[in-house]
Amino acid sequence: MSEIKKIKEEYLLKLDQVLDQNKLNEIKTELFGKNGIISNKFKQLGLIGEDKRKEFASELNFLKSELQELISKKNENIENQEINKKLKDDNIDVTLPGRTYFVGKIHPVSQVIDEVTSIFSEIGFSVEEGPDVESEYYNFSALNTPEDHPARDMHDTFYLEHSKDLLLRTHTSPVQIRTMLKGKPPFKIIAPGRTYRHDSDQTHSPMFHQLEGLHIDKNINMGHLKGCLYYFVKKFFEVDKVKIRFRPSHFPFTEPSAEVDIGYKIQDGKIKIGEGDKWLEILGCGMVHPNVLKNAKVNPNQYQGYAFGVGIDRLAMLKYGINDLRAFFESDIRWLEFYGFDPLDVPTNYRGLSR
Ligand code: DAH
Repeated sequence: MSEIKKIKEEYLLKLDQVLDQNKLNEIKTELFGKNGIISNKFKQLGLIGEDKRKEFASELNFLKSELQELISKKNENIENQEINKKLKDDNIDVTLPGRTYFVGKIHPVSQVIDEVTSIFSEIGFSVEEGPDVESEYYNFSALNTPEDHPARDMHDTFYLEHSKDLLLRTHTSPVQIRTMLKGKPPFKIIAPGRTYRHDSDQTHSPMFHQLEGLHIDKNINMGHLKGCLYYFVKKFFEVDKVKIRFRPSHFPFTEPSAEVDIGYKIQDGKIKIGEGDKWLEILGCGMVHPNVLKNAKVNPNQYQGYAFGVGIDRLAMLKYGINDLRAFFESDIRWLEFYGFDPLDVPTNYRGLSR
């Protein structure tokens, strides 16, 4: 039997028995690889006498294409078999119930921070942030708070262990100082964030949220402060008319200082903002004290302005009728399901799929 025939028979048999891709690749290399049987035969052509060379070459070429064709057919067969097997094994039960997915909710505090930020950015306030762990200097001294002020007392302020200088900020007002020190006037910023005080009852939590406002420029007066707060309260509570009362007060960092109350009444068990003859305190404010400007390297003879501090949790309680502040921070998923906000405002029929 000629050599070529032998190879042919051997490999026809081998190919017939191949069942998987790996084995097929092995055979391919055996035949056509760098040192493969067919490749080597071609290399030997030059050694064969001229008379037989032509015939051998044509037989070899013939065998080459025959085997290549067989291999590609085999390849196709194996692929088909694999696909069919997959289809058979992976059959889908279309009658199974759909997979439930859970839609998370946005916490009312986050929602209110977003709302308030967007209201103030419409009138040109940008957002600043400061650290929760603050130095006594930024939290008190730079804000013109005397050494013997009761707010500095351990009963009201959380000091960091072993430190007389580091504390958890008791208000967002230190962001005023940080903002002014790192830039040049004018300033028109708000600063939302977490604040901490030694306090806990239905309307106080040791951690709560405030929003600071600061507007410093050459000709800012108390009229601007009033205008800004009117605008804010109307937008936030989504009312056209509001009753606002500025009550004289005292803060070390403002002069004059005021506390702001908004008028409300209770109607059908619900709070109605902007009408009625009851008053509710919502924020502290005033004209920034010249000492504060000096401490922040701003010349009080050239620049002046107003500042205010609002309790964010309080705003959320009022707007969304939540009466216990502590629930905000208890991480009860049922509470959040009820009071939280839909992140995408998913249509109600989809909500049926959530919890
Ligand atoms: N920091 C004050 C507080 O926590 C609130 C406040 C009052 C902030 C007057 C101000 C302000 O910026 O001008 O009670």
